[in-house]
Amino acid sequence: MAVIAVYSVKGGVGKTTLAANLAWCASQTSGWRTLLWDIDAASGAAFLLGVDPPKSRTADSVFARERAPQKAVVRTPYRGLDLLPADQSLWSLDAQLAALGKKRRLAKLTETLGETYPRIILDCPPVLNQISAQTMRAADVVIVPLPPSPLSTRAFALVAAEVKGAAKGHPPMLPVLSMVDRRRTLHRDALAANPDWPVIPLASAIEQCAVHRAPIGAFAPSSPAARGFELLWRAIERKLTQRKGK
Ligand SMILES: Nc1ncnc2c1ncn2[C@@H]1O[C@H](COP(=O)(O)OP(=O)(O)OP(=O)(O)O)[C@@H](O)[C@H]1O
Ligand SMILES: [Mg+2]
Repeated sequence: MAVIAVYSVKGGVGKTTLAANLAWCASQTSGWRTLLWDIDAASGAAFLLGVDPPKSRTADSVFARERAPQKAVVRTPYRGLDLLPADQSLWSLDAQLAALGKKRRLAKLTETLGETYPRIILDCPPVLNQISAQTMRAADVVIVPLPPSPLSTRAFALVAAEVKGAAKGHPPMLPVLSMVDRRRTLHRDALAANPDWPVIPLASAIEQCAVHRAPIGAFAPSSPAARGFELLWRAIERKLTQRKGK
């Protein structure tokens, strides 16, 4: 089983879009039974998978251990892909985790869910607090989307340094250049400076995910953008294999 966190301290860099599309790749291409766990109170993951938001505000009860995590899971339209949705109760998740004093609560919950789901993708909020520290303890690999710029390398180094400061023995991090437009000189420069980083293009097809309320593989499977997610998913699986081999 493996936990893949999609994380950045920055907002609006494409985390939720990546998380939903990677969950689709894990379940539909690789055939893993997959759980997309939304731990961001903004609850965008359900929207992108075409799942109606939960009416209750009980997502926090899973963290309090008042409800078994399996009981909070809902189905998605995609075979083998389930969702643990967020809701507004998670706005206080940071304080809740701090008050609980259980540093591995999220890790323990993912261990339990891992008995059912060999792949768990975490859609994280853009924060550096208890939630991110718990995420680092739970994750086997952390995907960090970075908009391309001359500062991309530095931006990744900053996220890495913050994560290292927040959690000892943190998992490997995989930077991804997100929203790449090869027509722009600065974007091409960022690609040249980081030739080994996986790339997700800036694409209207990806924006359309929010219109179709579906991962791109479900409505434009042969698009270059869908191919970008597939290649990224394979890079993640390679990273997981290397880690397990250690
Ligand atoms: N590769 C892309 N090409 C075009 N648009 C994209 C791409 N990735 C994301 N977007 C768009 O950018 C916006 C922000 O994406 P998203 O919500 O995934 O970011 P986020 O990092 O999860 O944001 P937040 O920090 O608020 O949770 C959305 O409107 C999404 O459709
Ligand atoms: Mg998001």
